[in-house]
Amino acid sequence: MSLSYATAAGMSSALTVTLLLVVVLADLGYSMRRTLRLKLNPDCDDICRERNGTTLHLSADGPNDTLHYLWDFIGTPSVLLALTPPSTSLNISWEDYLARRENSLHFSEVPIYTFGVIINKIIEFNDVNDTALIDTADVANTNILHLEHFNWQRVSLTQDSDYIYLDMEGNNYNDTAKHISRFGSIKLSLRGFCTLDHSNTVPHMLHTENSTQIDIILDHMQTNETFSNSRFAIELLVVGGGDPQVLMFVDPKKSLDDEHTPGIFEIVEVRTPPYRELDTLNSGAYLQWRPVSYDSASRDVTGSTETMQYPPKKIISNYTSAVENSMLYCYYGRNVTNILLQKLMISLGSKGDGFYKKTNYLTWTFIIGYGTPPEERFSSLVIMIISIGLGLPLLIMVITGLYLCIRRMPKRHGNVYLSR
Ligand SMILES: *[C@@H]1O[C@H](CO)[C@@H](O)[C@H](O)[C@H]1NC(C)=O
Ligand SMILES: *[C@@H]1O[C@H](CO)[C@@H](O)[C@H](O)[C@H]1NC(C)=O
Ligand SMILES: *[C@@H]1O[C@H](CO)[C@@H](O)[C@H](O)[C@H]1NC(C)=O
Ligand SMILES: *[C@@H]1O[C@H](CO)[C@@H](O)[C@H](O)[C@H]1NC(C)=O
Ligand SMILES: *[C@@H]1O[C@H](CO)[C@@H](O)[C@H](O)[C@H]1NC(C)=O
Ligand SMILES: *[C@@H]1O[C@H](CO)[C@@H](O)[C@H](O)[C@H]1NC(C)=O
Ligand SMILES: *[C@@H]1O[C@H](CO)[C@@H](O)[C@H](O)[C@H]1NC(C)=O
Repeated sequence: MSLSYATAAGMSSALTVTLLLVVVLADLGYSMRRTLRLKLNPDCDDICRERNGTTLHLSADGPNDTLHYLWDFIGTPSVLLALTPPSTSLNISWEDYLARRENSLHFSEVPIYTFGVIINKIIEFNDVNDTALIDTADVANTNILHLEHFNWQRVSLTQDSDYIYLDMEGNNYNDTAKHISRFGSIKLSLRGFCTLDHSNTVPHMLHTENSTQIDIILDHMQTNETFSNSRFAIELLVVGGGDPQVLMFVDPKKSLDDEHTPGIFEIVEVRTPPYRELDTLNSGAYLQWRPVSYDSASRDVTGSTETMQYPPKKIISNYTSAVENSMLYCYYGRNVTNILLQKLMISLGSKGDGFYKKTNYLTWTFIIGYGTPPEERFSSLVIMIISIGLGLPLLIMVITGLYLCIRRMPKRHGNVYLSR
């Protein structure tokens, strides 16, 4: 009785370990790989050299399709993601494109799916009562900064077979119409990837072969001297494929462990609503981030604060003026019907964290992707620890069981075996 129990326990323990190993191996084999190609200001000669602008075209080729990413810093910084049939080329009419005219950007074949994000505004707000919540209706206590008024410079562009990094820096804010200028810089780092992995900058977001990461740093931004408790919020405009009548789904989820992002057990996911005819969420786009903001370049968990997201809002009044000075207007143009256009706001900071003035540095990192957002899984290390944690007691039980069985075995049996 106890022998068979012990054997069964031993087998189940071995089975658990094997199953876990299979899961780990399957996990490694699952991910698809895309090949990255990069072009800076594609097919543009003198005008781009004069303007010194940055438009980056990144193509990620898969077996049956290509994902194009465009990162543009000519007007308001924006990102366009387009899934097209393979060997589709991009055509930019540069003169019109630089003048931000509609339809100055197109693909040689109609994309299967497109999606864009404009980093529309940075909003400074005076958090008088330390709630860490922005109230955009309180106009006297908010200042809006438009990212096109920063002087954008390319800091670095790095390419490897596995990733592409573009670091941009916006300095010397100068809104000539409103006569507002500010010191300080906003740093935007964009990353393109070819496979499923964790990115190497904290918070180590998990990305797929279909996603790109944007990291924003507000570094010593000058605050309004009439504001005692300045905080910042970021407004994104989301444009592209999805049912325009339905708000995007915002889903803050608890994650399994904090192995990759110490101290943070939550992940916020935003997904585009599918068109009514199609009932699958898997062919849309998503945004994903950890609700954490670091207050220094070392990105320690001790120097971190939270981010807060707000419900998305549809833009119904004037589509054109909303996207006008961005690349997305060059692509989508004016006459778009049946296209999603919503804004999404994220504020940086939490109650009692000392406001922006504490270190004058805050970060926010998010992922934009196509398809299914990746689920954080236990890493091989964690699985090994769990296997040992489960396996070791089982092994001890088996050995104890066997030992007890042998000891209790009647002598007679032993003699029979011996006599043979
Ligand atoms: C690519 O297309 C082929 C043939 O249609 C199909 O067998 C394969 O599964 C596809 N690959 C991917 C990654 O979708
Ligand atoms: C790009 O588009 C312009 C305007 O539609 C067209 O005249 C030109 O031939 C296209 N170039 C290529 C390489 O497709
Ligand atoms: C701050 O709190 C005071 C007292 O509760 C309230 O009267 C005031 O309206 C609040 N200010 C803001 C900006 O919320
Ligand atoms: C500071 O805020 C006030 C009130 O909102 C505004 O009138 C002023 O232009 C702001 N100054 C700067 C430098 O943004
Ligand atoms: C163009 O950009 C590069 C890199 O950001 C910078 O070093 C250079 O000074 C810029 N040139 C002009 C004319 O602005
Ligand atoms: C929409 O915005 C554009 C550009 O700002 C402007 O020319 C147009 O008059 C606006 N339309 C309406 C209905 O407000
Ligand atoms: C990546 O995009 C392809 C479409 O080419 C899709 O089939 C695949 O499911 C996507 N991967 C993920 C992880 O969503």
